[in-house]
Amino acid sequence: MSRTDDILFRPHRLGALDLKNRIAMAPMTRSRAAQPGNVATELTATYYAQRSGAGLLISEGTQVSPVGQGYAFTPGIHSAEQTAGWRRVTEAVHASGGRIFAQLWHVGRVSHPLLHGQQPVAPSAVAAAGAKAFVVDGGGIGMVDTPTPRALTTDEVRGVVEEFAQAARNARDAGFDGVELHAANGYLIEQFLRSESNRRDDAYGGSVDNRLRFLAEVTEAVAGVFGADKVGVRISPFLELNGIHDDDPHGLFLAVARLLDGLGVAYIHTSESSPMELPPGHDPVPAGFRTALREAYRGTIMVAGGYDGARARAILESGLADMVAFGRPYISNPDLDARLAAGLPLTEPDRATFYGGGAQGYTDYPPLTQAAE
Ligand code: FNR
Repeated sequence: MSRTDDILFRPHRLGALDLKNRIAMAPMTRSRAAQPGNVATELTATYYAQRSGAGLLISEGTQVSPVGQGYAFTPGIHSAEQTAGWRRVTEAVHASGGRIFAQLWHVGRVSHPLLHGQQPVAPSAVAAAGAKAFVVDGGGIGMVDTPTPRALTTDEVRGVVEEFAQAARNARDAGFDGVELHAANGYLIEQFLRSESNRRDDAYGGSVDNRLRFLAEVTEAVAGVFGADKVGVRISPFLELNGIHDDDPHGLFLAVARLLDGLGVAYIHTSESSPMELPPGHDPVPAGFRTALREAYRGTIMVAGGYDGARARAILESGLADMVAFGRPYISNPDLDARLAAGLPLTEPDRATFYGGGAQGYTDYPPLTQAAE
């Protein structure tokens, strides 16, 4: 099949941007930021530039504040030094013909004082059952249980909205093409959305409308910097990661979709499965949600989680998604777009080098297509 006939390679208008194909690189934490300061490096720039054949790259989660960090060595986007680090990345990606959004991240209760010296913050003082933070302690590094967080005051919630706005200004100054809000996987924004973690009795808790308020304000704040047509929002309605739970995810996330439709964001990105293998043919999204999402939301729908070329083409052909994001395949196949186009085999990633370290398992996976062409 030539690229012209292949639905994966049909150009796509994403909000304000014209993309060369329907392929995104999913956001992936790689925990290699320079210390001290959690700064993206020249190696980070090389890594993303190598993958710029994707229509859109989405950066690893980048914390909007010190207390918003949950894992050691993740790059931030709140200091001048961090902003300068990210500028190297966007320049390298643009020079390679790519586009890149920053994934703005606040982990909320999935954190630990060993990372920043503070008690983690959340909508309510409810610990995340089973959640772990990744910390450096003395000479050692490892996963630790996350403690009970402190509930943010109403004024502090507004302060966190402003931290997201400042992070968006930094992302703009760093040359990013837009931002993706990390409202998935049990982190702060999702902690506000879901009833299990949000027990507030002010304007940010209680009814679904109130639980949506924080997401609405953060989205409006970053849209005020970039324009809503350069903002995406990542959700994971049917994953219960980091202790998160809600009795009615279907209803809740359709309300989220209607909210984001009204705000005019460029895309909704649904993270459909955690990084584990799916049984063949199994769709992790309940029947009916995909069509309901399409009806509730008029922008681009991006999906991620266990996709290969065949599943990606099938969901695009069905009309229930417009773009597909690939995670692990992009770790070990920097030229994934070219391999998918040519039907070449994919290299399996080495899990041992997912998080931390240097170039090994990061920038040293060779492209296949150079040799094959
Ligand atoms: C992830 N994922 C992820 N998601 C996210 O929203 N922000 C992040 O920072 C990360 N970090 C991350 C690190 C690593 C090493 C992996 C493997 C995954 C989830 C990722 O974006 C994607 O949804 C899953 O990997 C499932 O897609 P694949 O890998 O099956 O294509």
